[in-house]
Amino acid sequence: MNRKYRKTLIAGNWKMNKTPSETKAFMTELKGILPKGRWCDIALCVPSVCIPAAVRALRDTRIAVGAENVNANASGAYTGELSTAMLLDAGCKYVIIGHSERRAMGETDADVNAKTLAALQAGLVPIVCCGESLEQRESGITEEWITMQIKLALANIPEEKIRKVVIAYEPIWAIGTGRTATPEQAEEVCQHIRSVVRKLFGSKNARATTILYGGSMNEKNAYELLAQPDIDGGLIGGASLVPEKFVKIIEDANQPTA
Ligand code: 13P
Repeated sequence: MNRKYRKTLIAGNWKMNKTPSETKAFMTELKGILPKGRWCDIALCVPSVCIPAAVRALRDTRIAVGAENVNANASGAYTGELSTAMLLDAGCKYVIIGHSERRAMGETDADVNAKTLAALQAGLVPIVCCGESLEQRESGITEEWITMQIKLALANIPEEKIRKVVIAYEPIWAIGTGRTATPEQAEEVCQHIRSVVRKLFGSKNARATTILYGGSMNEKNAYELLAQPDIDGGLIGGASLVPEKFVKIIEDANQPTA
């Protein structure tokens, strides 16, 4: 992390876990043990039906609420979908876009780009995900793959908006597997992502872009991952479902920075 130039963000991704009632109980517990210092931004991205409960419970805190997906269209005949305006009005600040689990359900790079543009237009902070499969890593094409995903996701973003985008590097082989990327592996790709942003948007913007690591980040390995210069935070699945674990990761983001 490098707090001089960019924000540190610890974000949870609950995926398809917890009901609205469980959300309320979780937030009560979390608020009781939340550290007082303000060394990082904190967000919890929760299932759509849990957003109202999360927003209500976190109203008087510094924890922001996010959604796990959004539709790029403003309104219309898209049964089951939610627009940026709906998420904003419900109290969301962030939205995860292009998670590998959604890509596996058919979301394309073009969808990811359209959603990112729509989120920025609306004033939501997009957390844009990228990441390679084990097969791609073993074939030695991780950098090329990530370059392609980032270039396509960030196409047509106006230069003045790029600093609002958070990028999350989530190697698919590390998600939910307990097999975390080593700090060196994660740093290598996050540094590469920053170099792609630099080529597209210039060095000042690249220096100011928050890049997260996600994939089995937990209370045991977070400190070392967050100590890497180009890892500005975490996108946390499983460990964000347990208040003590999530809080420990927030505490691990409190470290000296260059
Ligand atoms: P886990 O932390 O459960 O591996 O999930 C990571 C993730 O996909 C966050 O978006």
